[in-house]
Amino acid sequence: MYPDLKGKTAVVTGGTTGLGLAIVGRYLEEGMNVVADYVGELKVTDDLKALQDKYENTLIVFQADVTSEEEIDALSKEATDKFGGLDVWVNNAGIEKPFPTAEMPYDEWQKVINVNLNGTFLGTRAALRAFEKNFNKGSIINMSSVHQQIPWPTFAHYAASKGASKLFTETVALEYAEKGIRVNNICPGAIDTPINAEKFADPIQRMQTQSMVPMGEIGEPSYVSDAAAFLASEQAHYITGSSLFVDGGMKLYPSFQHGAG
Ligand code: NAI
Repeated sequence: MYPDLKGKTAVVTGGTTGLGLAIVGRYLEEGMNVVADYVGELKVTDDLKALQDKYENTLIVFQADVTSEEEIDALSKEATDKFGGLDVWVNNAGIEKPFPTAEMPYDEWQKVINVNLNGTFLGTRAALRAFEKNFNKGSIINMSSVHQQIPWPTFAHYAASKGASKLFTETVALEYAEKGIRVNNICPGAIDTPINAEKFADPIQRMQTQSMVPMGEIGEPSYVSDAAAFLASEQAHYITGSSLFVDGGMKLYPSFQHGAG
């Protein structure tokens, strides 16, 4: 637990499922105020309902499409109006859909870049504006992926968006470092969330993915929310422009693990 987080306010995009929901739950446990963003029709799962019941005064669930300037600005305003400020913004929303690159429709390319990259820009800009308005140091966390580093055939749009997240994070971190605003990336490997539900429902595909993780385990969402709590906290006050891999060693060229090559 990180006592300095108590009473602070966070926005988490894509905050009602998977990694976003785990981060929302962890931040609420830390005593933070949280605005959990979702897009489209809200699905209230048992896990979300439990948080809404337990944290009725500190959790707001708010609809905003991360690709819309107006909706992202409204999301930021909701946090500052309802909770009196903003301290942490997590750009977590993300999508993927595989296509061989030669067959990838242009609108599918654009959709992924729009949510994963443009959404991260719009969220970051809204957070910076809110931090600067209140002379707040603030922390931005971008949900990147091991695929900011590992190429991923048929996911060229996704890998491009996450690769861009790395240099975007580093650039904004440098630009705002002297104001004490920190910007970091989390790079999950293979984590059990809705984005992987179909793949992991097939035992063969699950085993295949697991065999690419040197630590031999598909990750739990809490492994990522632990990293998000740390990066938001004062314990990480000297960390900016970093990419924290939460991947059981997936980026370490697992095919070399037993001395092959
Ligand atoms: P998920 O599918 O549960 O979460 C994605 C969330 O983003 C959903 O709640 C979805 O509704 C939301 N979203 C999509 N488009 C949106 C939009 N236009 N506006 C607002 N919200 C939108 O899957 P997961 O795994 O929790 O993904 C979260 C992030 O983690 C994504 O950025 C993903 O790329 C990243 N990631 C996940 C990994 C994994 O193994 N689960 C591995 C590496 C990265």
